[in-house]
Amino acid sequence: MIKLQERDLKHIWHPCGQMKDLAANPPLLIKSARGALITQEDGRQVIDAISSWWCKSLGHGHPLITQALQAQLAQFEHVMFGNTTYTAIIELSEKLAQLTPSLCKASFASDGSCAVEIALKMSLHARQITGETQRTKFMALENSYHGDTGLAMAVSDLGIYRLPYQAVLPNVSFLKNIPYVANKLDPLWHDCSSMWPALEQQLNQQAANLTAIIVEPLVQGAGGMLIYSKDFLVRLRKWTTQHNIHLIADEIMTGFYRTGLKLACDHAMIEPDFLCLGKGLTNGVLPLSVTLTSNAIYDLFYDDFEKGKTFFHSHTHSGNALATAAALACFNAFDVENIEQKVQTLEFTLIELLQQIATETGYLTNIRHLGGIVAADLVNAFDISRLGYLVGQEAIKRGALIRPIGNSLYWAPPLNIEYETLLQLRDITCDAIKTRCCVS
Ligand SMILES: Cc1ncc(COP(=O)(O)O)c(C=O)c1O
Repeated sequence: MIKLQERDLKHIWHPCGQMKDLAANPPLLIKSARGALITQEDGRQVIDAISSWWCKSLGHGHPLITQALQAQLAQFEHVMFGNTTYTAIIELSEKLAQLTPSLCKASFASDGSCAVEIALKMSLHARQITGETQRTKFMALENSYHGDTGLAMAVSDLGIYRLPYQAVLPNVSFLKNIPYVANKLDPLWHDCSSMWPALEQQLNQQAANLTAIIVEPLVQGAGGMLIYSKDFLVRLRKWTTQHNIHLIADEIMTGFYRTGLKLACDHAMIEPDFLCLGKGLTNGVLPLSVTLTSNAIYDLFYDDFEKGKTFFHSHTHSGNALATAAALACFNAFDVENIEQKVQTLEFTLIELLQQIATETGYLTNIRHLGGIVAADLVNAFDISRLGYLVGQEAIKRGALIRPIGNSLYWAPPLNIEYETLLQLRDITCDAIKTRCCVS
């Protein structure tokens, strides 16, 4: 009989990777997953150290979410959301509206990328309605990542993702020299005034034609878990307001306590014009994303049909009832589990354990952390090709699913991960680094 992994490779094109790598290191064959642990068909377990691409903030198989799904399944799974509504999605929208003071209108999609598309399109469309037709440009930050669909990719500064398609994408400017920090104790976190004038100069050059600036607030995930100054976000909000430019906060990775607070924007006490959420919204159980915006934006589109202001954006699975039930259960589970408290403790544990590895191996540098994220760059003393990838593969063999981004290694585990599991994660990561970072 052909092994399952061979059958997989015969027909499946996996996401975000070179298939030749997967042929050499076949995908893990998953049997079950609970909490922070994934069990393979052969019984071996791996720690989900990156919450399955940052979405399993409450871990796998959370009982409150499972119960909610079963209850919703007994009612209905999905009815097209164009002309219909139901209790759960109304309740979810009310909870989403409470996340910020005035972003009270929710537009639902499935993936994070689509939530970003909605925000970008709404911003641009709003300018057509207000007659600000010169405002057609978007700006993003260097090292940004906002998804893989057309516009989302256009505002992503990751060349390997974007460049093959650049010919058909709109030109976007990327703000350079972002004030990156190591943690909240970094002086730049509270005060980036020394770097602001150069940033403001770049902004001013574009101001007249910009409709929106999109940011991943405080942590840039796919860019390598880079953390930047809270003060920069405060200043950017102020500048965008002064210049009548929309600020889009893409909290698809950072939302729901990943950075320690419910939203990363809460650290800076700012409110964007558009807020995109996904991933942790359903704890990664089912695809659901949302773009929140204000009445001020919503009202621009609200008119007689003949006036042509309708926002004609739809996804088949918009408002999916199972995903909605999961999201509603997540709100409950975050409270029941007291995640806000847990992530405070987790933050200290994560940095302490990664520091121990740095001391023991000498192969980690540029250590940074915020909330449930800790990251460092591997010291490539022997110029080893694709070192991060090799360390990741070694860790998988030893029982931890980590996926370094280039040579940046990070942990972003479920926020309710057990301390003992973190100790195992430390030992596995440490051994993987020791094995791969030197040449024997
Ligand atoms: C900040 C950010 N925005 C958007 C996306 C895209 O989300 P999705 O993969 O659900 O389309 C991601 C995915 O990693 C992300 O990290």
